[in-house]
Amino acid sequence: MKLINNLQSYGLISILLHWIMAVLILGLFVLGEYMVDLTYYDPWYIKAPNFHRSLGVVVGFLFICRLIWRIKSIRPNVEGKQWEKSTALAVHRLFYVLIAIICISGYLITTADGQGVSIFNWFTLPATLYGFNNQEDIAGLVHEWSTQILLILAALHGIAALKHHFINRDSTLRRMLRPK
Ligand code: HEM
Ligand code: HEM
Repeated sequence: MKLINNLQSYGLISILLHWIMAVLILGLFVLGEYMVDLTYYDPWYIKAPNFHRSLGVVVGFLFICRLIWRIKSIRPNVEGKQWEKSTALAVHRLFYVLIAIICISGYLITTADGQGVSIFNWFTLPATLYGFNNQEDIAGLVHEWSTQILLILAALHGIAALKHHFINRDSTLRRMLRPK
C-alpha cells in the first residue's frame, strides 16, 4: 500500500488527512450552527462550545500537518478539461486559505478577553492576540462567513467529484478513496 502520492494517485497519508478533516470540518459546521442557538438553560450550553473549540484546534493541528505534507509531496495530475483543472486547483488552494482563516478567527473569538482555549481539559492554548476593539464581534463575523463559503465550496467540490466518477467515469474519486 502506497503511503505517499505519485503522479497518478494519492497515497494513504493524503487520503486519510483528506477524509478525516472533511468529516471533522462538516461535523464542526453542524455543531457550530447548533450551539449558537442554544439558550442558557440548555445542558449543552457550555459543553457544546467547549467541544467545538477543542475539536477545532485538532483540525488546526491537522491542517498544519496537511499543509506541510502538501508542500513537500508530488500532486497527482488533475483530470478533465483545462478550465476544470485550473478551477479544481484554485478551489483546493482556497480550501487551505479558508481553513486557516476559520481556525484563526475561531481562536480570536475565544481569546478576545485574554482567556486561553482549553483543549478537552487536557491543556490550554494560551491567548496571544487580544483586547482589540470589537475583536469578538469581528472575528465572529469572519468565522461565520468563512465557514459558509467553505461549506458551499465543499458541496460544489463534492458534486464535481461525483460528476467525474459517474459521468466522465475517470479515476478522480477512486484515487482519493484507495491508494494504488
Ligand atoms: C474548520 C473548523 C471549524 C468550523 C467548520 C467551524 C464552524 C463554526 C460554525 C458554523 C459556527 C457558527 C457560526 C454562526 O452562525 O455564528 C461556529 C461558531 C464558533 N466557533 Fe467554530 N468552527 C471551526 C473551528 C473553530 C475553532 C478552531 C475555534 C476556537 C478555537 C472555534 C470557535 C468558535 C466559537 C467561539 C463560535 C461561537 C461564535 C459566536 O458565538 O458567534 N471554531 N463555528
Ligand atoms: C469539508 C470538506 C472537504 C474539503 C475541505 C476538501 C478539500 C480538498 C482538497 C484541499 C483537495 C486537494 C488535495 C489535498 O490537498 O489534499 C481535495 C481533493 C479531492 N476531494 Fe475533497 N474536500 C472535502 C470534501 C470532499 C467530498 C465530500 C468529496 C467527494 C464526494 C471530495 C472528493 C475529493 C476528490 C475526489 C479529490 C481529488 C481531486 C483531484 O485529484 O483532482 N472531497 N479535497
